[in-house]
Amino acid sequence: MKLKVNGQEHEVEVAADMPLLWVLRDELGIKGPKYGCGIAMCGACTVHVNGKPVRSCSYPASAVQGEVTTIEGLGTPDAMHAVQQAWVDHQVAQCGYCQSGQIMAAAALIATNSQPNDAEIDTALAGNLCRCGTYPRIRAAVKSAAKTIQGRPSDKPSVDEELA
Ligand code: FES
Ligand code: FES
Repeated sequence: MKLKVNGQEHEVEVAADMPLLWVLRDELGIKGPKYGCGIAMCGACTVHVNGKPVRSCSYPASAVQGEVTTIEGLGTPDAMHAVQQAWVDHQVAQCGYCQSGQIMAAAALIATNSQPNDAEIDTALAGNLCRCGTYPRIRAAVKSAAKTIQGRPSDKPSVDEELA
């Protein structure tokens, strides 16, 4: 089957029911999306299909119509997506395992909601679990990224906020 991932066309020979996550990681070597639960419950494997977040562990690659974007295709180290930059500014990650999924879910949220409040962020990211408990910093970073995308100065955290 043909698959367009991060702007690149690929031809892969896999079973039609192979989950997208397996194709990305094992066939294409794209390791940003993580395997967590394998049953669409944790969000670690979240990628975009045509801009919408999907759980790639439970999404057959053959069902993809259009383009897949993983965290590798969201931005680059030199030109980070606003969400990636906000994650760095707010030092969100702890162990990091859940974070590519969190970032992909956050990017999809602010693409459709330019000023999400805490409740909207919690709802949109409810399926993305973080056992390190980074949720307060995720909220702050999502709001910061939303402001950047709107062209407003983003609120980089003060040292006091970060130590709180
Ligand atoms: S690994 Fe896909 S939702 Fe957990
Ligand atoms: S940062 Fe460790 S699981 Fe989220």
